[in-house]
Amino acid sequence: MSALLEVSDLSVHHGQLEAVRSVDLTVTAGEIVAMIGANGAGKSTLLRTIAGLHTPSRGTIHFDGRDVTGLPVHARVAAGIALVPEGRHMFGSLSVEDNLIAGAYSRRRGPWTVDKVVELFPWIGERRRQQAWQLSGGEQQAVAIGRALMSNPRLLLLDELSLGLSPIALGRIYAVLPELVSAGLGVLLVEQDVAQALSVAARVHCLLEGRQRLSGRPSELSMSEIEAAYFGTGRAAASVGEAQ
Ligand SMILES: Nc1ncnc2c1ncn2[C@@H]1O[C@H](COP(=O)(O)OP(=O)(O)O)[C@@H](O)[C@H]1O
Ligand SMILES: [Mg+2]
Repeated sequence: MSALLEVSDLSVHHGQLEAVRSVDLTVTAGEIVAMIGANGAGKSTLLRTIAGLHTPSRGTIHFDGRDVTGLPVHARVAAGIALVPEGRHMFGSLSVEDNLIAGAYSRRRGPWTVDKVVELFPWIGERRRQQAWQLSGGEQQAVAIGRALMSNPRLLLLDELSLGLSPIALGRIYAVLPELVSAGLGVLLVEQDVAQALSVAARVHCLLEGRQRLSGRPSELSMSEIEAAYFGTGRAAASVGEAQ
């Protein structure tokens, strides 16, 4: 099956700093791929570059067989790429509903409406007129996902859903992902929370100081290999299998 997203030899600089170094990865429709790594590893830079917010210094990004490396953000949204940014970035003074509607900018045709987001997260129904700042972190994360879905994406980029959430809130958020991918969405998520990423992803990559240190299916990777790749301790582990 051909990949929905294909990132090849991608490098991204912030000034002199090479934050992402020669990363290769693919995501197919209906699949969750995770990129794990410590704070500062380059995870957000990678996702933001795929979304069009940073310009790579080398490499290409293909989406559905088309080279989108030079496209601006709105054209990537229109093509079907949606980012849920780290820190959620709600419009605090707008209502929950208006935050969702903000995600319909540059949208593709498709099934997602405010009502359909409410089906996914039923509590939003009673709270759609509340201002977003009144929501808990977990609720804001749900609205941020709903806002991304409103663009009718084919690929969802999720940046650290776990940040600042309680285990219960996090469990509720992660619980919707299988439903979304079974409907054909591809998901690329980045996480510091390794256990959470391993529990949902079909394939995992580990990023250390911008470099991809380990790739494989969760069942093929040992905890010691993952720890070595995550913290940069021990010998650098080689890639496992053909996961990419
Ligand atoms: N806009 C920016 N300008 C300059 N440096 C940045 C910028 N964004 C990130 N960095 C740096 O790039 C590196 C990777 O950051 P980031 O992609 O945010 O990592 P992560 O999401 O894995 O924590 C870090 O050293 C960070 O300080
Ligand atoms: Mg980050």
